[in-house]
Amino acid sequence: MQQTLEQKPPVSPKVSAPPMAPTFSIPEPAQMPVSADYKTVGVPLVENAKFAMRDVNVFYGEKQAVFNVNLDIGENEVIAMIGPSGCGKSTFLRCLNRMNDTIDICRVTGSIQLDGEEIYASKMDVVPLRARVGMVFQKPNPFPKSIYENVAYGPKIHGLASRRVDLDEIVETSLRRAGLWEEVKDRLDAPGTGLSGGQQQRLCIARTIAVSPEVILMDEPCSALDPIATAKIEELIAELSQNYTIAIVTHSMQQAARVSHRTAYFHLGKLIEVNDTQKVFTTPDHALTEAYITGRFG
Ligand SMILES: Nc1ncnc2c1ncn2[C@@H]1O[C@H](COP(=O)(O)OP(=O)(O)OP(=O)(O)O)[C@@H](O)[C@H]1O
Ligand SMILES: [Mg+2]
Repeated sequence: MQQTLEQKPPVSPKVSAPPMAPTFSIPEPAQMPVSADYKTVGVPLVENAKFAMRDVNVFYGEKQAVFNVNLDIGENEVIAMIGPSGCGKSTFLRCLNRMNDTIDICRVTGSIQLDGEEIYASKMDVVPLRARVGMVFQKPNPFPKSIYENVAYGPKIHGLASRRVDLDEIVETSLRRAGLWEEVKDRLDAPGTGLSGGQQQRLCIARTIAVSPEVILMDEPCSALDPIATAKIEELIAELSQNYTIAIVTHSMQQAARVSHRTAYFHLGKLIEVNDTQKVFTTPDHALTEAYITGRFG
């Protein structure tokens, strides 16, 4: 039998149109604007304020990134800052030790007092301020120096110890407090950059506490770490909170719930809600907080 050369195109199976996608009404954060004269709900102010911020606004050039924030951070409190990416958490945190000064186009207005003293006053020297208010960044950033020198550097430049024996003691105490001493005591001369990520982050925490800060700012300190290293840092935060005031930015709601006393929820540069952490994650006062913690956006 002869086959026809001309073959019919294969018949495609009948595909029925997909059913209409169910229509969830998931609001985009940008479609949930908050009025310019909004008021933070919950408990943004406390009795024993270490930091007191009033009407804080932050601009990058013409663009405003933080709007009218009023917030106290209590002595020995751990406060977590949460909210969708780009909502201004890092910008706000950087105001607390004038780290934003390093960004040319950044301008901060309003009042930020540390123990009643205006930190943006022209007479405020930022070098001692940044020793009082230390910072731990997202990515561990040890100096390209030995483990010992990473920790000893700050106390040396701030004149906290001149004799080697005093410096040795600060280095050991700081490494112990950061939970790293046992792992590095036999290789203090090895480069800090040769440690694992989690160890490097604990080294950076040791470096921060070596200059006896009063406040420690942490911007997503565990985001580059595995769960075991993260658990170590979280234990450390709990321990450090006995002596220090800590403000931590985190994308992990579980982490905020585990480590903080109060939680602050930011949305498009506005401080929407501040409440006890347990309340924020169980019965938040604001609909936007609820939308975020239940995963509707962010
Ligand atoms: N150096 C900068 N120059 C210009 N705009 C900036 C700068 N840093 C941040 N911004 C803008 O300010 C706003 C807030 O950014 P910020 O980094 O504070 O947010 P974030 O909440 O920390 O976000 P993420 O969770 O992604 O770290 C964003 O719109 C961002 O684009
Ligand atoms: Mg950030």
